[in-house]
Amino acid sequence: MEHTITGKLNPITIGSVKVETPLFLAPMAGQTNHAFRNLCREMGDCGMVCTELISSQAIHYKNQKTWHMFDWTPDEQPFAVQLYGSDPQMMADAARLVVDEGATIVDINMGCWVPKVVKKGGGAALLGDLCAATAVVEAVVQAVNVPVTVKVRSGLTPDHLTAVPFARAAEQLGVKAIAVHARTASQGFSGSADWDIIRQVKDAVSSIPIIGNGDVKTSADAERMLRETGCDGIMIGRAALGNPWIFHQIAYELRTGLAFPSPSPAERASAALKHARLTVETTTIGERQAIFELRGQLTKYHLGVPGAAALREKLVYAESLADIEAIFEPYLSHEQAEYELA
Ligand SMILES: Cc1cc2nc3c(=O)[nH]c(=O)nc-3n(C[C@H](O)[C@H](O)[C@H](O)COP(=O)(O)O)c2cc1C
Repeated sequence: MEHTITGKLNPITIGSVKVETPLFLAPMAGQTNHAFRNLCREMGDCGMVCTELISSQAIHYKNQKTWHMFDWTPDEQPFAVQLYGSDPQMMADAARLVVDEGATIVDINMGCWVPKVVKKGGGAALLGDLCAATAVVEAVVQAVNVPVTVKVRSGLTPDHLTAVPFARAAEQLGVKAIAVHARTASQGFSGSADWDIIRQVKDAVSSIPIIGNGDVKTSADAERMLRETGCDGIMIGRAALGNPWIFHQIAYELRTGLAFPSPSPAERASAALKHARLTVETTTIGERQAIFELRGQLTKYHLGVPGAAALREKLVYAESLADIEAIFEPYLSHEQAEYELA
């Protein structure tokens, strides 16, 4: 099958950590649990995964709900644990704790724009205060002996793009990689990502890899991001949901110039089942609660067969793993898609 777009995905190093294929699963709250991270790795070419953001303040105050986010296992290596907060000491303490619990990398969130995070000075709020941001970064870098990375947005607003001065400061402080989501905080997820900021950040640093992020859905997008920005790696978020093959697909297509054969309905149903089973097996919040959280994640698996709306409807009422199995198992022998998936 012709595809024709090719591109180079060179291994990169983040401090002492080698990432063979520089395709990163983006941290996504409520989505990137242990099961989903594992699935992305298992499908191939997902070079690095990251937990969802975890509050350093919640860790400090020993908030019970936070512990179920400590769901990683040693076989996920290399992986990053993402922390947020504005108090340097709390961030440093939280970093030490997650490293003691096995984190390969500590990632600092400087992109989350939701009010509950920003209002306390964490996440994207730090992009508006270089002084506060550098205090947090410095404290975390000094607290741990593993690489520290940062995930930023372009800035707070289109009139206040701070990613470039921030990246320069972070590099000086010993940060080992920066991921840039090419939208401002005020944009949320609206509009399209303006990748030029990734190029500007790449030009501004000299010794650390820059990971581009925002709106990569296909190998053509990935090739264009690499070419236009010079970034060293690519981070993928929404396009991976219900689609854990995307990393392998992009790597395969860029390496070979051939189109990746679309997974069959049976393969898609099998991945959804694996996602559900591993979530239930490893959850610390009980099967019923885990299934409530899974419903939304599983609706993202499009099987390529008629009746998708009915399938989603059934998922909304699923209360147990047995319910999920009853929904997906009938498709396990379905080898041919009946319509094209975008
Ligand atoms: C449901 C959801 C949850 C997210 N949670 C986080 C998070 O916990 N930490 C973070 O740094 N970014 C988070 N993001 C942002 C993504 O990591 C990523 O930067 C953004 O989705 C843009 O990439 P994409 O276009 O590939 O999706 C989240 C995004 C989504 C859609």
